[in-house]
Amino acid sequence: MKIFTTKQDLKSCLSEFKTKNKAIGFVPTMGALHEGHLSLIKKAKEKNDIVVVSIFVNPTQFDNVEDLKKYPKTIENDIKLLESVSCDVLFSPSVEEIYSENIASEKFDFDGLEHQMEGKFRDGHFDGVGTIVKTLFEIVEPNKAYFGQKDFQQLQIIKKMVKKNRLPVKIKGCPIFREKDGLAMSSRNVRLSNEQREIAPFIFKTLKEVRKKFGITNISEINKWVENQFKKQPLLELEYFTIAEEKTLETAETKESNKKYRAFLAVFAGKIRLIDNIRLRN
Ligand code: PAF
Repeated sequence: MKIFTTKQDLKSCLSEFKTKNKAIGFVPTMGALHEGHLSLIKKAKEKNDIVVVSIFVNPTQFDNVEDLKKYPKTIENDIKLLESVSCDVLFSPSVEEIYSENIASEKFDFDGLEHQMEGKFRDGHFDGVGTIVKTLFEIVEPNKAYFGQKDFQQLQIIKKMVKKNRLPVKIKGCPIFREKDGLAMSSRNVRLSNEQREIAPFIFKTLKEVRKKFGITNISEINKWVENQFKKQPLLELEYFTIAEEKTLETAETKESNKKYRAFLAVFAGKIRLIDNIRLRN
């Protein structure tokens, strides 16, 4: 695997592939890689000639300084994992390399997607995500880019950005990868204490129950039920639970048969914030 830390070196390596018309698959990450990331890389390997992974903990998408400071950094292990799935190129730039002197986000209009859920609770988060993903797309110029559905709102926002800016890249959303006990894989999971880790599968268990209830119960009853379930769990504090339409991500109050819905939630286990979601069937 080739490793680059500067845009220039990466671009000159990739230009060789581009002149040969090779398809480039791209998986942007913030490192602390796990099986979920590896599943995206494997998918990218299947569908492209070469795969580029970036590892960059993007400061502009963090609304919480402590969360940024404590974001796990495991570069040596990440390199081993990338080699184990035959990743071709790793781009791991410094903050200065990406932002120079000005560590700030561009302002985006994602047609309202940014005002829902994560956008309500993490100020400026999606401007930060849009800024870094657009910047990385400009550097790597991939044919296809792969994102996990755990961050479903992020995935929809990136699709919107690509469409609005007519960026020449296809965005591929990939299924959520879960631990055996159902906990959605996340780089933040390593920060959970043993006690928090033990209780965390409750999140997916609740979502699966929501999926069952969705066919037979109205949405406001489901909302109340979820809130009550979390009230009984002192180690998990529910930040939000919402059933939303997949396209607009607007909170749904009633079901319409021609629309697709998902249930989304964010939960604090101590200071560690976990998100998850599940597709619902009418
Ligand atoms: O999902 C992530 O890990 C990050 O938000 C991303 C897409 C790599 C941008 O920093």
